[in-house]
Amino acid sequence: MSAEPLEIHLEGWDLDRRLREDVEAGLTARPKWLPPRWFYDARGSELFEEITRLPEYYPTRAERSILTERAGEIAELTGAKTLIELGSGSSEKTRLLLDAFTRRGGLGTFVPLDVSVSALRQSTEQIAADYPGLRVRGIVGDFTHHLDRLPAGGGRLVVFLGGTIGNLLPAERVRFLAATRAALEPGDWLLLGTDLVKDPAVIVPAYDDAAGVTAEFNRNVLRMINRELGADFEPEAFAHVALWDPEREWIEMRLRAERPMRVRVLDLDVEFGAGEDLRTEVSAKFRPEGIAEELAAAGFAGHAFWTDADGLFGVTLARADERLRPPTAD
Ligand code: SAH
Ligand code: AVI
Repeated sequence: MSAEPLEIHLEGWDLDRRLREDVEAGLTARPKWLPPRWFYDARGSELFEEITRLPEYYPTRAERSILTERAGEIAELTGAKTLIELGSGSSEKTRLLLDAFTRRGGLGTFVPLDVSVSALRQSTEQIAADYPGLRVRGIVGDFTHHLDRLPAGGGRLVVFLGGTIGNLLPAERVRFLAATRAALEPGDWLLLGTDLVKDPAVIVPAYDDAAGVTAEFNRNVLRMINRELGADFEPEAFAHVALWDPEREWIEMRLRAERPMRVRVLDLDVEFGAGEDLRTEVSAKFRPEGIAEELAAAGFAGHAFWTDADGLFGVTLARADERLRPPTAD
């Protein structure tokens, strides 16, 4: 079966407006910051795939090993008819689930949702070609805004892999989980990948690799803003910084101005002092008890929690719980 045309919930003009709002808000804030969704233009999505193959970047390998071991069990337990993937990217690891569902039978539709049109176009075409008989409905959308537009009907399994939930700030995370729960019926399932708290000596190199791919991924956001908004950032004049925050248990990526600079963007003159940081991402790391608490507070009952052999990464399977349904969610 060929992939259906992408369903666009985020039009070009809407993206452009959001980018302008985020850039204006973030670059006039103190400290300066940008939300991480803007990393993923075509080049950024390619760079992320390159990151997943780096020796230092353990999360992809660790999550893949969990899914390799558990995919059959997940297919049996959930018996899902529709598999919805948020922030799907290349959906490379999701193929382990699709293979297991293919063996079991009963899965009819795969719905990957991503803000990156290029990643989604490529993945939907390849998956439709490789899984004949599966309906593939790609949605261009933002998982912090468009969860109310997910396909309805029971028998759904929502998967959110890679640890991408850690890229949301704590308050965004609460809203995201509540909105996910509100989009589901009691008995539907959530499969959530989370990177776990561990020695920063393991975490920091994963975000500051020797080959400089993560640095390039980080600076790419400035190249994207130059291209889309006609700004005049000099990406090479910013150093890539990966900083572990032991209190908040997250790693931050920042871009540090190596000298004083004035950047023209939109109708703003943005001043950077020498050594001033622009925060481009947080990537929170989790503890098993924290994940269970956050899921329960959102109306999910935990069913299973699995880690890889080295205890680096966690995958939780949880069920939308009737009794815990929250009153509202935005
Ligand atoms: N799930 C894949 C990809 C992770 S990279 C994996 O585990 O390897 C994060 C993905 O989330 C990217 O494809 C990016 O385009 C997407 N993304 C980031 N912010 C998003 C948002 N707000 N809404 C939808 N997709 C988003
Ligand atoms: C997509 N997300 C889970 C990645 C992470 O590890 O936080 C993005 C990333 N940033 C730097 N390297 C990878």
